[in-house]
Amino acid sequence: MSETLWLVVPAAGQGRRMGAQRPKQYLPLAGRPVMAHTLSRLHQAFPAARLCLCLDPDDALFDPAWVPFVHWQRVDGGAERADSVGHALAALAGRAGDEEMVLVHDVARPCVSVDDLARLYEVLRHDAVGGLLAAPVADTMKRDDGAGRVAATESRQGLWHAMTPQGFRYGLLCRALATAQRHGLAVTDESSAVEALGLAPRLVAGRRDNIKITHPEDLGLAARILSAQRAEGPGNTTATGREKR
Ligand code: C5P
Repeated sequence: MSETLWLVVPAAGQGRRMGAQRPKQYLPLAGRPVMAHTLSRLHQAFPAARLCLCLDPDDALFDPAWVPFVHWQRVDGGAERADSVGHALAALAGRAGDEEMVLVHDVARPCVSVDDLARLYEVLRHDAVGGLLAAPVADTMKRDDGAGRVAATESRQGLWHAMTPQGFRYGLLCRALATAQRHGLAVTDESSAVEALGLAPRLVAGRRDNIKITHPEDLGLAARILSAQRAEGPGNTTATGREKR
């Protein structure tokens, strides 16, 4: 019997750093809203997965036509990203088994490749803790002095950019987020909540072009990445000959 894969997509942010009229998940990218691209990539990799989409309760821009999944539900987002993910996990209670995998992917990462998604899932299925897509830091890292000058150069040795998806078993993820909330820990990703339990999530090296659209110039960059990925061919945009999940 095939195992159930749960997808949680937090999409309740306002994206204020974009300075746009509407949240970034609704900005047009290569002819479709950012959200439609993100959901399409996830669906190409995991057509049989069950999706929980976190949206602002007052969201008037969402169109269900952008959701390619058969099994999906909308849940209300919360004040912070971790609250939105927490609402999604609560909505899955009684349906998701403790040992079933939950992949959490930011709606603002529409360029994630189908190959990376499939590879991440394969690695995490066999991992006792879970983990995340990540990329080693390439630039020299500076710490500022709070006044626009360099206070120190930090070693980049062993530093990674944390991306999404991040995947953990349902029971562990619920426990990690609940514990973080109880201790007032501000967690900006699932991994940090799991790390706070004393566990070491697996770093799965992914493509560096899995950018998170955050600043205005990122939208043009994402459009160029999507176009370059299309030119690279299958694997970046389409899943071929892979087991259905
Ligand atoms: O703002 P930032 O890019 O860090 O948000 C990361 C992700 O979390 C985005 O997909 C955003 O829509 C989502 N989010 C959310 N609920 C919030 C804040 C952010 O679902 N309250």
